[in-house]
Amino acid sequence: MESVGEAEAWEPITKGRLNEIYLGRGVKSVNGTLDRWLKINEDDANHMLFLGPSGFQKTTTMKALLQEIWLNTRWGRNQEPPLVIIFERKYDRAKAQLVKRTFYELLRERGEGWLRARLSQFTEFNLYIQMLESPAYEGVIGLMGDFALGWENILGWLKYDKQHTLFSIFGIEPMAFPTRRFVFNPTRDPHHIALDSGPETDVTATFIRYERLDFEDLVKVVNINPNTIYAQIIKTAWDEEKVRDPDELTVEAKRIYNEMLEFLEVENKKPPTSLWGTYNVAKSLKKVTWLKAKGEDLFDTIDNTKINVIDFSQNSDLTESAKNIIFKKVIEWVLKKYVQEKETAVFIAGDEIQNYLRSHWGRNTVAKLFREGRSNQVNFLVATQYLHSLPAEIVYGASHIAILGTLASADDYNLLKKVVPDFDVNFERIVATSLEEVEILKKKNRGKGYFIYNKFFTERIHFRPSQTL
Ligand SMILES: Nc1ncnc2c1ncn2[C@@H]1O[C@H](COP(=O)(O)OP(=O)(O)O)[C@@H](O)[C@H]1O
Ligand SMILES: [Mg+2]
Repeated sequence: MESVGEAEAWEPITKGRLNEIYLGRGVKSVNGTLDRWLKINEDDANHMLFLGPSGFQKTTTMKALLQEIWLNTRWGRNQEPPLVIIFERKYDRAKAQLVKRTFYELLRERGEGWLRARLSQFTEFNLYIQMLESPAYEGVIGLMGDFALGWENILGWLKYDKQHTLFSIFGIEPMAFPTRRFVFNPTRDPHHIALDSGPETDVTATFIRYERLDFEDLVKVVNINPNTIYAQIIKTAWDEEKVRDPDELTVEAKRIYNEMLEFLEVENKKPPTSLWGTYNVAKSLKKVTWLKAKGEDLFDTIDNTKINVIDFSQNSDLTESAKNIIFKKVIEWVLKKYVQEKETAVFIAGDEIQNYLRSHWGRNTVAKLFREGRSNQVNFLVATQYLHSLPAEIVYGASHIAILGTLASADDYNLLKKVVPDFDVNFERIVATSLEEVEILKKKNRGKGYFIYNKFFTERIHFRPSQTL
């Protein structure tokens, strides 16, 4: 595992303080300021839940707080940056177009000098936008992920009201972050994915080595019926003999099979159909394109020198079940390996978390993390629209809850009322009185909502904008 060479001394950037993250602005002045910070504790869980209807900036706010975490949490002996792993769900076709329109609008209204002074990536933006307009790149670029952390956020320079931009309200500036984006079976050229992700991004086409899987995982990858003889043979070879390569598996299966016959002293007159079973499993395993026998895999590359984005958008050709297995393996690796070897903080972010909770083991993994996070120094940030049908641990185990816009369901309101003492008093639902008002309210409340500190105190807040796209 690679480590950050020299532990650089922490320096205040943006409005963060060491081990405190800047959340945004509250309504009432506290100590003469509206700014709000949240302490991130080394010896406690810091799980966060982001709730709210689509379009109110759950993803954007989670992204903004992850930037604070990357800049301002330094734990352990060497005060290294945290390990940050983000599971990205989708790309946004509209975003690149919005960036393009914004670039031209700012050029027109503010002038080139003004924009150059505010975007250190001015030249890169200019080039990228020319490529967006070029027929040669049609359909291959312009698919910006939800976490394009390598791009400075040009959108924050748009006029927010008469006197302000979003950045000027909060007194922060755009900033690109060193990012490593992992794609599996890329559906387009990784160079194009890199262009959409911003100049600070490394795109790595990755895979997982067979040896990382246990027999239990194997059963899910290739649908083995565990109650068959061939499954027992594979289990012996895979878990006990540690033969974790499809080519060697068939050979080893034969050996185990013959050993079994010898031991049982049976004269085998029937054709060995169990071996046919193992042969087919090996064949299926070789067809799984996100698994390989050799080479540097995801876990050899992932570390805390950059923010890690695991690209589960349409950039990666993966089935839902494969995404679930990879998700589980990443979390197991963090818990069983990474935190045993390193003292840095770990923050894992799962956007649209309901997608990982359909399978039994996905639910169990997440529920377990929220229950136990405190004891293993791994912090989880999850975003979803509804709590409905999610494991209760997500709410009970969350340290803090951010609500973006409003709540999408009355059930969630009732649940939060039960869990948070002052919720009822301080939370107001957004109610439109006409159809036209819906859009107005939506616009007005984007990026605004409530923050529930330690599930104990609820406050209306305007969340800090993201420094990246
Ligand atoms: N970095 C950004 N800064 C400001 N606005 C953004 C940014 N990224 C996206 N947006 C705008 O905010 C809208 C909704 O944000 P998003 O975080 O995707 O909402 P949600 O996750 O709640 O559905 C997007 O459609 C886009 O117009
Ligand atoms: Mg979202």
